Amino acid sequence: MSPAPPATPGAGKVPVGVLVSGRGSNLQALLDAAADPTFPAAITMVLANVPGAYALERAAAAGIATAVVPSKGVPREDFERALLHALGPVEWVCLAGFMRVLTPTFLGAFPGRVLNIHPALLPAFPGTHGARQALEGGVVQAGATVHLVDAGVDTGPILAQGTVAVHDDDTEATLAARILTLEHRLYPMALRWAAEGRITLEGRRARVALAPGESRWIVGE
Ligand code: GAR
Repeated sequence: MSPAPPATPGAGKVPVGVLVSGRGSNLQALLDAAADPTFPAAITMVLANVPGAYALERAAAAGIATAVVPSKGVPREDFERALLHALGPVEWVCLAGFMRVLTPTFLGAFPGRVLNIHPALLPAFPGTHGARQALEGGVVQAGATVHLVDAGVDTGPILAQGTVAVHDDDTEATLAARILTLEHRLYPMALRWAAEGRITLEGRRARVALAPGESRWIVGE
């Protein structure tokens, strides 16, 4: 099946593709933000590597073009080339619960223009199960991070972080839920900065030209 053509972004909006693997609550946060006419980015394509991912339904409900680019059993380079082909003419890419590590085959097409959201205070607890790792690590503060993607696993320059306290009676599910609420606040904020060209890099350190009242650090409940 050939992918549907990307939607035309609103006038003056930066076209963004989103890669997903699962339920897509972060995609929903981005779609909700992008529905505001003053938001600088338009989501024009949502790609899932997992057939049937619920995120695809969220995108379709918002009228956004979608496609499935299967990764299972596909050589990594072929998969990434297929992703690039299906994405269409986007300027930024957001990974939103996309559970594949991308290589320079993909990243080279979007140098410094791929964002990821991760459910931990990086550089602690990269990989999967951020909340579980925080509980097992015995930390008293957990959180979420939006970062630029490099070829490592959750190692790219950090743009924004949010923190929540770890409660004595937290389970992985309760902690992950509070972290997820933070994620939904952080990701639209960082995408706005990206689309408005307010991010620069000094080595591995990202700088953001903040507007009055903005912060790169938020505190959750
Ligand atoms: C989110 O918690 C996201 O941070 C995490 O997967 C979840 C996806 O939820 N991503 C990673 O762990 C990437 N290393 P969602 O599909 O509802 O957005």
